[in-house]
Amino acid sequence: MEVTVKRKKGLKGEVSVPGDKSITHRAFIFSLIARGETEVVNYSSAADCASTLRIVEQCGSSVVYRDEKTVRIKSDGIFSVKEPEDVLDAGNSGTTMRLMSGLFSGIEGKLFVLSGDNSLRKRPMKRITEPLKEMGAEIFARAGGNFAPIAIYGSKLHGIRFEMGVASAQVKSAVILATLSADGKSEIIEKGITRDHTEVMLKEFGGKIETHGRAVTVYPLEKPLKGRSVFVPNDFSSAAYFIAAALITEKSDILLKDVGVNRTRSYLVEKLKKSGADIALKNTRVLNGESVADISVRSSDVSFIEVSAEEVPLLIDELPLIAVIGAAKNGAKVTGAEELRFKETDRIKAVCENMKRLGVECREFPDGFEVLPPRSSGLKGGTLKGGVVSSFSDHRIAMSFAVLGLVSEEGIVINGAECVEISFPEFFELLERFSYE
Ligand code: S3P
Repeated sequence: MEVTVKRKKGLKGEVSVPGDKSITHRAFIFSLIARGETEVVNYSSAADCASTLRIVEQCGSSVVYRDEKTVRIKSDGIFSVKEPEDVLDAGNSGTTMRLMSGLFSGIEGKLFVLSGDNSLRKRPMKRITEPLKEMGAEIFARAGGNFAPIAIYGSKLHGIRFEMGVASAQVKSAVILATLSADGKSEIIEKGITRDHTEVMLKEFGGKIETHGRAVTVYPLEKPLKGRSVFVPNDFSSAAYFIAAALITEKSDILLKDVGVNRTRSYLVEKLKKSGADIALKNTRVLNGESVADISVRSSDVSFIEVSAEEVPLLIDELPLIAVIGAAKNGAKVTGAEELRFKETDRIKAVCENMKRLGVECREFPDGFEVLPPRSSGLKGGTLKGGVVSSFSDHRIAMSFAVLGLVSEEGIVINGAECVEISFPEFFELLERFSYE
């Protein structure tokens, strides 16, 4: 699918983006761990979350009710997970594959085989297979344990002390979920603070987990968790595209409703405010342990943005968007972000390649990039002409460059735009829903 996004200004209106992808994954996984019925309200419509739910069903849970906003899932709990009859397909979703591998490693005497699409089968899995093996898991993967398919024969695990080599919420969560059925606690030392939705949800379901700075201690379940109702706030990473859209276009003033602003997710707001962005959180409240707020954004003159290695984990999914804000405004530089090379595509390469296609000067580093503003790129009148870019089959690349289209003279054509389905199927429809001048 090819989509063209043309120049626009004066974005106005209130929009609700769909439910958070990361929290929806976890709600579906906890619905399998817990006994009884779990209700997930405002779940994400993302294809990635549908992959998790399908796997949960293949392991014996049943969806007993579903509409556009709510799904109710019934399970017998972690100690009664069924051995699936077929290979489990995680699709494009790293979160599904890594978190589920952690959980399955401790389901004794049952075989689980996980695979995924072309992109997922190229993403590094040693980061989970190694700590899980250390816990006693019988886990096998291609290329010495690094690439899916992954085969797991569930066994009795023990807790570990795990000093993480990468800052990754997926890896942390895999070890947390494995520990739930282990015979002792695990202590995880994060390399950098990453999203903590697994910790928050485990606590909400009644599990025992403690966090002190970068140290997370998780305990095996003493009794089965009980199904409950989970409200999923709207997805900050999806809202971020509209935050950027309002900032870079002229005369814009929008409100994004009920967005999850957990401090491990919403650092972009702080970062952009430091660069002069007119953004405010309103009506902040806490629901199921997660902070939620309405976010108001107005057109702003954002100065040069510089992201350092320590900030990367807190902005991990928003880094392509920072490149886009830099291209539209006063430049941006990101370093210490080699992790971007292991996402759905190599996002450093994808950002630089697309910027070049648009005539924007972009320097590629092994661990990041620097985007120069159109002025310095020598573009006529300091404006961005537009052109044709590729999504590289990566949803976040497609949506980031769609936002840049809003400030281009002749529009930006995004090839392979159908991949927005992975996290935000409603993206193009909602982009049209704002009123424009
Ligand atoms: C996610 C964690 C992040 C993020 C991904 C979702 C999660 O990945 O990029 O989109 O839900 O835990 P890493 O933990 O591998 O950095």
